[in-house]
This record gives sequence, structure tokens and C-alpha cells, in this order.
Amino acid sequence: MRDKTRLSAEIDSFRYPDGTVALADIRLDVAKGEFCGVLGANGSGKTTLLRIMDGLIKDFAGKVLLDGEEVRKLHPRDIYRKMGLVFQSPDDQLFAHTVFEDVAFGPRNMGFAEGEVAERVRSALASVEMTEFGGKDIHALSYGQKKRVCIAGLLAMGHGILLLDEPTAGLDPMGEYRMMELLTRLNRENGVTIVMATHSVDLVPLFLHRLVILSRGRVVRGGPPEEVLTAPDEMAHVKLRLPHIAELIWRLKHEDRLPFLRVPLTIGEARREIVETLGGENQ
Ligand SMILES: Nc1ncnc2c1ncn2[C@@H]1O[C@H](COP(=O)(O)OP(=O)(O)OP(=O)(O)O)[C@@H](O)[C@H]1O
Ligand SMILES: [Mg+2]
Repeated sequence: MRDKTRLSAEIDSFRYPDGTVALADIRLDVAKGEFCGVLGANGSGKTTLLRIMDGLIKDFAGKVLLDGEEVRKLHPRDIYRKMGLVFQSPDDQLFAHTVFEDVAFGPRNMGFAEGEVAERVRSALASVEMTEFGGKDIHALSYGQKKRVCIAGLLAMGHGILLLDEPTAGLDPMGEYRMMELLTRLNRENGVTIVMATHSVDLVPLFLHRLVILSRGRVVRGGPPEEVLTAPDEMAHVKLRLPHIAELIWRLKHEDRLPFLRVPLTIGEARREIVETLGGENQ
């Protein structure tokens, strides 16, 4: 059932002990099978939101429901059976000595036999293109490699819901794209529900079903990328920008008065729009 809500956050407010109000008036329902992005500038509250949704922060006003049950009241084991969070900083997540041991920790903890654990680790490392790093010391990895190992650790557990805090930050351009393709595959083929925090506006419209924009701890816009990413000044207001290609077409349309009908968000859409509007060789 595609429209079934799996995760629902109602956060009236949350403040850190030093008085910083990090979130207010949040309403976010995530349906089964959705690939949802939380887009926001630095300090807008993305990490705080994911930590509350994963049950790591409990002293907020409101409630988060996972399959209808209040996360705050669930045993961590019952949360982690269904949902996993990849932290923003890999150093907060990785703790074992070697890559293999780190990725194996989750499936071992879930009680799988050693043969199954090894197979899960192999497959997870292959998914993030880290196959040959199993025996490597965690501390000797580069930042982007650590990010990949963190994500492999979650993949090895096979969660139905993944919360990812900036999964593409620190990856090289091809790595960023491949990571988004991997997440898309998990979402489409395995039905994994994904909530991903990011400020990567160029990648988002290519992959995500829905976006919410956070600004100063509040949701200021939400919807499909083409409804949310519409004008540069609105994005600048929340310290973000449009995807580069959208910005170019928006300027050509509004400042140079070229007769584009839409503001496309991806290179592919822009190419079609340009050919249709300005005429290609065959027109
Ligand atoms: N432990 C803490 N104590 C006090 N304030 C905090 C703490 N952690 C975060 N904050 C504040 O809460 C707000 C939201 O922070 P959060 O880390 O959720 O933002 P973010 O959107 O994830 O930012 P970034 O893009 O930099 O990761 C910020 O104003 C931040 O300074
Ligand atoms: Mg963050």
C-alpha cells in the first residue's frame, strides 16, 4: 500500500539545553516507499529533525510515530529493527577497527549466522564500491570512504526505512551521483523508504519524490521538486539557490525575455525545453 504513512513527525518545538530553539511547528508524514528530501542551509535543523525521528532526542514537545507507535516509547531494538540513521559525520558512527568489522556489527547484532553476516558485508561493500577495503583500518580511510562505509553498515542490516544525514557530502562528483543512484535503486527495487537531509540542490530534483525546505527550524515549503524549486529569490531567502541549470533558464526567461514556458530543473529537461523553444536543427 503506497500511501501508508510509516513515519510521522509532529514537533511543536525543541530547544537545546543552551536555549537554542532548533525546531518549531514541524509536521512531516513520510509514506511507505517515499524518497523524501529535507533541504536546508547550515543550522536550519536538518540533523536535529533526523535525530528526533530516530528516537535519539526525546525531550521535545510533540510526537513521532513509527508505524503508528510513538518512537519515544519504543525500545531502541524495536526502532533499529525497522529504521536506521546514517550520521552526518562518519566519525560519530564508525567505531570498529576494520571496515569489515564495522559493517558486520549490525547484522551480527541482529543474530545472523557468520556466513550470512559475511555475505551481507560483501554485498553492502560492493554497493558502495568499497569491496577491496574490507580489511582496511577505519582510521586510515579518507572522509568519503568513511561515508561509504557508514552507508554500507546500514545497508548490511537491510532496514525498511533509512534516515540519511547528508549522505553525499564529501563524496566526489561521480561518487555523489552513484550514491544517489544506489539510494534510488534501494527505494525503487527494495521499497526502502528514505528521508535524506541535504543541501545539494543540483542532485535533489533528479532523484527525490518530495522535498521539504527547512529554514530556522521551520518547514517553509514542501512538495515535488518542480513545485518547490521555482524562483531564485525564494531560495535565496532561505540561504539556498536553484539548481544551476534552473537558474540559467530562469534568468534567460525573466531577464532576457526568452520565451521558455517552464523552468526545468535538470540538464535533460533543460535540453528539451531549449530545443522546443528555440528550435533544433530538425525543426
Ligand atoms: N548540541 C547542541 N547544543 C546547542 N545547539 C545546538 C546543538 N546542536 C545543534 N544546535 C543548534 O541547533 C540548530 C540546528 O542545528 P542542526 O545541526 O540541526 O542544523 P543542520 O541543518 O543539520 O545544519 P548543517 O547543514 O550545518 O548540518 C543550529 O542553530 C545549531 O547551532
Ligand atoms: Mg546537519
